[in-house]
Amino acid sequence: MNKKGDMTIVSQRNIAKNIFELTLKGDLVRNMNEPGQFVHVRVNNSYLPLLRRPISISSINKEKNECTLIYRAEGMGTELLSKKMVGETLDVLGPLGNGFKIKEMALKKTALLVGGGIGVPPLYQLSKELKAKGINVIHVLGFQDRETVFYESEFAELGTTHIATADGSYGEKGFVTDVIRKYNLDFDHLFSCGPTMMLKALQEEHGHKDVYLSLEERMGCGIGACFACVCRVSENSTDYKKVCSDGPVFKGGEILL
Ligand SMILES: Cc1cc2nc3c(=O)[nH]c(=O)nc-3n(C[C@H](O)[C@H](O)[C@H](O)COP(=O)(O)OP(=O)(O)OC[C@H]3O[C@@H](n4cnc5c(N)ncnc54)[C@H](O)[C@@H]3O)c2cc1C
Ligand code: FES
Repeated sequence: MNKKGDMTIVSQRNIAKNIFELTLKGDLVRNMNEPGQFVHVRVNNSYLPLLRRPISISSINKEKNECTLIYRAEGMGTELLSKKMVGETLDVLGPLGNGFKIKEMALKKTALLVGGGIGVPPLYQLSKELKAKGINVIHVLGFQDRETVFYESEFAELGTTHIATADGSYGEKGFVTDVIRKYNLDFDHLFSCGPTMMLKALQEEHGHKDVYLSLEERMGCGIGACFACVCRVSENSTDYKKVCSDGPVFKGGEILL
């Protein structure tokens, strides 16, 4: 299966403060069959920056051979990416990693999808696929402040959507865990992506349920060869897993957060 190819930028737009939505067209889309996988993008043709940047696949459009990424321009790589124009091509490796394996799951009635900041994007494709299977989806999305909120209406079209901001400037004030408690949200499956502290809090409170967590770790190769992205499986063991090739999605409790 060809994992590397050129993709053409068909649109790039600024959707919130420092947040960009980038749509790419290319044959790699044919292999994108699992929500939660990522692509590893070369943001420049020169040596700087040398390493590719991992970005989750936010939505997949098979008919058009397109996929959409949503990213925050924060460092050198993503700043460069945000300057790319429609019609330019990008060298992309993907789809990579193990995503949310909902095709293999005996899904029950309700799924709670919890996203934090730039962990929100992969949940969009996941939500679309769950909804298509007749699952009731509830979203709890956490952001820093009003200016960084994105895709509220896109998620709201698929199911009930709660927005929380850390400073209370939009939606509920506080963390995603506060919202889940406040509304006493009941669910059969929990899917989450976001900062490790958030995943840890969710695992502590809901670890007895069916939980899947998507992790971000600094990456080198993105394909399991360089060991840059390892995480330990437990406190008293030296065993580890690689976020790029064993993850990024893990079952709750599978790794040490
Ligand atoms: C599986 C996965 C999925 C991701 N999905 C998204 C997404 O959908 N949207 C989005 O905005 N960001 C996502 N990220 C984070 C994104 O990769 C980093 O924000 C980005 O690499 C930062 O690059 P930079 O050059 O702008 O910053 P710099 O700080 O200059 O990056 C330097 C190096 O650190 C790595 N790095 C920096 N921050 C992170 C981070 N938080 N996680 C992992 N590596 C990092 C870079 O890959 C690079 O090698 C994802 C990360 C992973 C591992
Ligand atoms: S990034 Fe190289 S092993 Fe995961």
